[in-house]
Amino acid sequence: MEKPQFNRIHLILFIAFAAIVPTLRAQFDEVWEKRAAEAWNRTLDSYEPEPEKIISHLNENAHRTLKELGALGSNSTRRELLRRKYGGPCRVTNPIDKCWRCQPNWVANRKRLADCALGFGYKAKGGKAGRFYVVTDSSDNDMLNPKPGTLRHAVIQKEPLWITFERSMVIRLSQELIMTSDKTIDGRGAEVHIANGAGITIQFVRNVIIHGLHIHDIHTGNGGLIRDSLDHYGFRTASDGDGISIFGSQDVWIDHVSMRSCHDGLIDIIQASTGITISNSHFTDHNEVMLFGASDSFSQDEKMQITVAFNHFGKRLVQRMPRCRYGYIHVVNNDYTHWNMYAIGGSQHPTIISQGNRYIAPPRNPYAKEVTKRDYAPEAEWKQWTWRSEGDLFLRGAYFEQSGDPNWYKKHSDVYDLIPAAPALQVADITKFAGALHCIVGRPC
Ligand SMILES: *[C@@H]1O[C@H](CO)[C@@H](O)[C@H](O)[C@H]1NC(C)=O
Ligand SMILES: *[C@@H]1O[C@H](CO)[C@@H](O)[C@H](O)[C@H]1NC(C)=O
Repeated sequence: MEKPQFNRIHLILFIAFAAIVPTLRAQFDEVWEKRAAEAWNRTLDSYEPEPEKIISHLNENAHRTLKELGALGSNSTRRELLRRKYGGPCRVTNPIDKCWRCQPNWVANRKRLADCALGFGYKAKGGKAGRFYVVTDSSDNDMLNPKPGTLRHAVIQKEPLWITFERSMVIRLSQELIMTSDKTIDGRGAEVHIANGAGITIQFVRNVIIHGLHIHDIHTGNGGLIRDSLDHYGFRTASDGDGISIFGSQDVWIDHVSMRSCHDGLIDIIQASTGITISNSHFTDHNEVMLFGASDSFSQDEKMQITVAFNHFGKRLVQRMPRCRYGYIHVVNNDYTHWNMYAIGGSQHPTIISQGNRYIAPPRNPYAKEVTKRDYAPEAEWKQWTWRSEGDLFLRGAYFEQSGDPNWYKKHSDVYDLIPAAPALQVADITKFAGALHCIVGRPC
């Protein structure tokens, strides 16, 4: 009995490697080989066999939060009060924020955040189990022996760490920042910009939280020798210039980040990454915003499960919010106020569940009213893909071309508990505080 099992596992590993090698960008030594194999196992572990339960849990929480705030049924369809100009008392508008925000002692309770993720990234605890690491030095000069006190030194440590910043700073990464598992990067209490250099790479690791950063003007890194953990470094080819690149990783939560103007994608999630939530974030000034799955031939992305919730897709965005291959994507209560080509696209039959979003088509482009876009498939084929819209609000002629089983929602009513997503009419309010928050020590955040 043992031998066939052994062979089967090796066949799976072989298939995984065969597809991963071309795009790994690292010298594929035995360390990366082991990381890749362990990562695929973790993806299989993290994968939720009943994804509708995760959806319904989030929706139930969003609904309950609005109810408790007395906001259910009120209309707030305008974004006229910009967050920056909002001078009123601290208020929360969605269940993730309600879990931690608006407490004056948030500094003493930073790790509270680790229990607040909803959606597929709910298992992300980041550095909750570890000590705090305070970044005091914004430099990034030594790729092999990063200086203590720098962000690069923090993210290569083996132990879980909750990383904070001593003061506001701009960190220009000389090369991609290669993170290890069990880390939180928590920008609250400072204005931290990762800008004008390379981006963040989350490759074959698990359990990462990124919160409260400004990430913009990210360029390609030249590549070269880069340390990726305390006891390993290796050669990397040039990085793509993504703001955040999630590659073969599990249990990642990106919350309250502000992102714009990166060379490649703002956030790319590829190579069988799973268990991911992107929430409360603000995106502007970018063409190809988010890519979920990079290759039509990489079918392990079937295991990809991602939640995109409570975000504001804002000014001067063009397309891919997100663009998906394979996988299961829940897009809920986001405000799409600007796109130039389309909002949500894909190929290779991804499942896309769109609920309670507000889609506002561009005013002067009659050819960009359609929210959705399918690639590389004749209509007869994409008509089978499950792309469902429920409770979305469409303005200025926007429309979502649905496909798949029209009774899909009815068929899942048992796990939905008949609770719909929070109403799209309230999305402007739900996403009002999207992006990095301006948190001041001693005051509610
Ligand atoms: C992956 O999981 C299989 C089955 O549980 C196990 O036999 C194998 O050793 C694991 N591989 C790695 C690299 O952890
Ligand atoms: C909210 O707006 C909708 C559509 O414009 C309208 O039908 C509804 O009555 C409004 N509700 C409230 C509480 O104003």
